[in-house]
Amino acid sequence: MIVDSVLVNAKAYFKREIVDCAIAIENGEVFKIGKETQMPKADQRFVLNKSLVLPGLIDPHVHLRDEGKAYKEDFYTGTAAAAAGGVTTVLDMPNNAPVTMSAETLGNRIKIAKKKILVNVGFYSEFPIEPKGIRDIVDEGAVAFKLFMGKQVGGLGINDDRAVEGALRKAGELGVPVAVHAEDEKELKKNEEKMRRSNRHDVSAFREAHEEIVELKAIERLLRITEKTGAALHFCHITTEEGLSAIIRGKKTGRLATCEVTPHHLLLSSDDFGRYGMAAVTIPPLRGKRHIKALWNGILNGWIDVLGSDHAPHAFREKDASSIWDVKAGIPGLETTLPLVMSLVMKKRISLDRAVSLLSEKPAEIFGLKDRGLLEEGKKADLVVVDLKKKFKIDASKFHSKAKYSPFDGWEVQGKLLKTFVNGRLVMEDDEIVEKAGCGVAIRRNSV
Ligand code: DOR
Ligand code: ZN
Ligand code: ZN
Repeated sequence: MIVDSVLVNAKAYFKREIVDCAIAIENGEVFKIGKETQMPKADQRFVLNKSLVLPGLIDPHVHLRDEGKAYKEDFYTGTAAAAAGGVTTVLDMPNNAPVTMSAETLGNRIKIAKKKILVNVGFYSEFPIEPKGIRDIVDEGAVAFKLFMGKQVGGLGINDDRAVEGALRKAGELGVPVAVHAEDEKELKKNEEKMRRSNRHDVSAFREAHEEIVELKAIERLLRITEKTGAALHFCHITTEEGLSAIIRGKKTGRLATCEVTPHHLLLSSDDFGRYGMAAVTIPPLRGKRHIKALWNGILNGWIDVLGSDHAPHAFREKDASSIWDVKAGIPGLETTLPLVMSLVMKKRISLDRAVSLLSEKPAEIFGLKDRGLLEEGKKADLVVVDLKKKFKIDASKFHSKAKYSPFDGWEVQGKLLKTFVNGRLVMEDDEIVEKAGCGVAIRRNSV
C-alpha cells in the first residue's frame, strides 16, 4: 500500500505524552502512528527534525466577515490567518451582513465560503424570528447557535424570557449547542446613555459602561432560563471573577454549561490600556488584575473549557476615532493564539496537556466535531508542526488577516509554527499559504 504522506522524525503529542514517532496520512486521516520502520510507502515525505506535532487548533470564536463586511476580512484572508496561526478548524460567527439567521442566509454563506476557504469552517446561526425556522437552520448544517445578549442581532427578542426559553428548548431538542455573548442589554444601554449624557468619550467610560455586573446579570439570567430546557450553553469570552463564579455554580448544580476565555483577557490588563491603545478595544473590555487572577485559576483548575480568540477584525480606520463610542471593538486573534499559548507552556505557566485540551480537545467535544481535536489513528489529519525552541517577535504588519494590528504586536514569543496540515494537506509552510482557495471543508453539523 502507498499512502498519501508520512511525517518522519516527529515528536508527537499522542495520548498525553510526547513520543518520538512517524505519522502516516491517507485520505485526509491519520492512518498510522508508529516507528518510521513500520510506515507504509508514501507519495510525499516530510522530515520534521524532531519538531512537535500537535492536533490543529479548533477556534470556536471567529468572525470571518466576508459578504457585506469583506473590507474587514473575507473567507480567504480569514482562513489564511487561521492556517498561519495553526488553527485548522474555525467556527464562524453570524453577525454578518446579512446576519446569518435563516436556512437561506446560512446556505448562501456556505456556498460562498466553499470556494474560498483554506481550513475547516463550521457556521453559527443566530436564532430566527419564527421558532419554527430553527429546525431548518439545523438541517442546513449550522454547527451551533449564537445568542448576542448585549444587543439584538438575530430574530429572537433577547429581553423576552419565554421566547429565549423556547429557542433554547428547541436547540436542546435538536442537540445543537448555543454560544452566548453574555452582556445584559438593559444594563448596558442604561450605562452607555449615562456616559453619553455626561459627555464622556474616553476609554474608562467604555469600561464603566461594560462594568462587571453587565456580564454577571446576563450569565445569571441565562442560567436561570435554561434550567429546564436541555440546551447546552457555551459562554463566550468570560472576563470577570463574578461571571466565572456564576458559571461554576451553574456547572455544580447540573446546568449544561461550558465557557471560553480569550488570550487577550487572560494576558492583558485594563491597567496597561494606555500602552496598547485602540487596538485593544474589545467587548467585553479588558479587566483589572483581580479578574485576570480569577480567570487564571479557572484555566488551571479546569473550570474554563476553551481558549477562543474572538478573532474580530476591523479596518484600521474604524479603530482610529477620537470618541470611544466611534471605535469598532475587536481584536484579530487567529495568528497570535498559538505562539502566545506555546510561550506560556515554555514558561511553565500552563501544562501542554491543559493547552491542548483548551485549544483542541474540548472545542471538538463541545461542538460535536467527533473526528477532530485529537491526534489519533482514524481521526482527521488536522495537524500543526511547531518548533518550541524558536523565539520570535509578533509582527502584526505581516498578518494574513486584513486586520494588521494587534495589542500583542512586538511581543517576544516562543514556539514557532512551521507547518499546518488540514485534512492531510499541507496548507501553510514557513508563513506562506501553499494550497489553493477552496481546499478547506465547510463543516455541516449533520455531516461531521
Ligand atoms: O469586540 C467585539 N467584537 N465583541 C463582539 O461581541 C463583537 C465583535 C465584532 O464582531 O466585531
Ligand atoms: Zn462577543
Ligand atoms: Zn465575538
